[in-house]
Amino acid sequence: MGLLKKYFNNTRKPEGWLGKLMVNGMNGGHAALSDWGMSFLKVSQHVKIADLGCGGGRNAASLLKHYPHASLTALDYSDVSVEKTRQVNQAAIAAGRCIVLQGNVAALPFDAEEFDLITAFETVYFWPDGSFNEVFRTLKPGGTFLIVNEADGENAADEKWVAMIDGMTIYNADQLTDMLTNAGFAKVTVHRNEKKHWLCLTAIKEA
Ligand SMILES: C[S@@+](CC[C@H](N)C(=O)[O-])C[C@H]1O[C@@H](n2cnc3c(N)ncnc32)[C@H](O)[C@@H]1O
Repeated sequence: MGLLKKYFNNTRKPEGWLGKLMVNGMNGGHAALSDWGMSFLKVSQHVKIADLGCGGGRNAASLLKHYPHASLTALDYSDVSVEKTRQVNQAAIAAGRCIVLQGNVAALPFDAEEFDLITAFETVYFWPDGSFNEVFRTLKPGGTFLIVNEADGENAADEKWVAMIDGMTIYNADQLTDMLTNAGFAKVTVHRNEKKHWLCLTAIKEA
C-alpha cells in the first residue's frame, strides 16, 4: 500500500504516527466545514451533548465554547483520536464538563434518552448499519442529530476518496434522509453549500 493511501486510510480510523498526523490535520482542515454545520443548530441551549467519531476533538471544544452550560461526551473507536481529544479538551475535562470515551457508534455505551444533541462531523461515511438506531435510542425526545459531511454524494470528483479510503461510503441527501427516517426520525432538514458540495442534515426525534 502506498504511503498516501496509508495516510488517508487514517480518516476512517486514525492509528499510529500517521494517525497522529491525521487528527492534527483534521482539526484544522475540518474547522470551516464544522462551523458551517454548527450554524444550523437553532436551539440556543443544549444541556447534554455527544460528539460521535470525535477525531482530534476540535469540534467538541467548539461545542463546549458555544454552549457554556452544556456537558459533552466525545466518543471515537480510535485510541489516537481519544488521546488527542483528551489533550485538546483537558481544561473542560478537569472542570467536569467533558468526558472522552473509546467506543463504537454501532453499540453506544449510553442509556436511552441521554442527550439533547448528538453530532457527527465527517464520520457517518464509516458507520456500520444500525448506528443511526443507536443515535435515535440515546437522544431525548425533542433532541437533535446533526450530520455534517464535506462530500454530498453529487460530485464525481469525490469518488477518488472512496477509492483511496477503505470502508468509505459517500451518501447523498436522499440516502441519508431515508436512513434517518428508517431509524425513527420524523423531521429531517437538509442544508447544502452547493458550491463546495458540503452537506448538513438536522434530524429531530419527535417529542
Ligand atoms: C474523518 S474523521 C472525522 C473526525 C472529526 N469528527 C472531524 O470532523 O474532524 C472520522 C472519525 O470517525 C471515527 N469513527 C469512524 N467510524 C467509527 C465508529 N464506528 N465508531 C466510533 N468512531 C468511528 C474515526 O476513528 C475518526 O476519528
